[in-house]
Amino acid sequence: MKDNLSSYTSNDYDSRINSVLPYYAEFHNQILDLAECLGLSRINWLDTGCGTGNLAQKVLKKFDTVDLTLCDPSEAMLEKSKDKLKEYKNVKYVNLASQQLGFNNEFDIVTAVQAHHYLDRNQRANATKKCFEALKDGGVYITFENISLSCNECDELGMKRWKKYLLEHGKSEEEAESHIKRRGTEVFPVTIEEHISLLKKTGFKAVEIIWMSYMQAGFWAIK
Ligand SMILES: C[S@@+](CC[C@H](N)C(=O)[O-])C[C@H]1O[C@@H](n2cnc3c(N)ncnc32)[C@H](O)[C@@H]1O
Repeated sequence: MKDNLSSYTSNDYDSRINSVLPYYAEFHNQILDLAECLGLSRINWLDTGCGTGNLAQKVLKKFDTVDLTLCDPSEAMLEKSKDKLKEYKNVKYVNLASQQLGFNNEFDIVTAVQAHHYLDRNQRANATKKCFEALKDGGVYITFENISLSCNECDELGMKRWKKYLLEHGKSEEEAESHIKRRGTEVFPVTIEEHISLLKKTGFKAVEIIWMSYMQAGFWAIK
């Protein structure tokens, strides 16, 4: 039974995610590298939409001066995180969606990886605002998302490439098509331009692209 909004249940997520999401590990690599270069002596870090805690585990292995807060609206995903990270004492867990968060000026880094594309434009704006509010002044928001490309022709080519990836990673024709059909029905990717415009409108003083592919992009923004 489905226990979260991603394509897979919390039990299957870790073993299946790489077969459906090109560059998944690269999102985390980019985040860790950027975080390291911020040169913070102690980091208060919020990861919203933490899922099964894969990014959190890498953060905790890399930085020993970190306090981590993990949020997710799915209790089952959050339980997987708790189980994976049970040896760490410097982690708090919050069973809420980004748009429900109430943090204020607390965090040096807020991350949201593949977490806000389930939301419509209004809710996405609310979620982004809550991430902004959670940051201290000068804090950094880093988000990775599936995107739509700015013309239909480009988007179709992007989807052709994704379908090729899905087929090459063991999906049947029907499974590949059903993943692609989630776009616009279960997930609502927006263009890079819309991401940048939303981040600026939310109040971030600097907004940059950190990474992109034919169907995903990463952004970092300074409060
Ligand atoms: C594709 S998974 C990504 C998990 C994790 N960030 C990672 O890198 O593996 C999407 C996660 O976002 C969570 N989610 C769904 N809606 C959300 C929302 N409105 N705010 C925060 N997280 C959300 C889901 O429960 C799920 O755990």
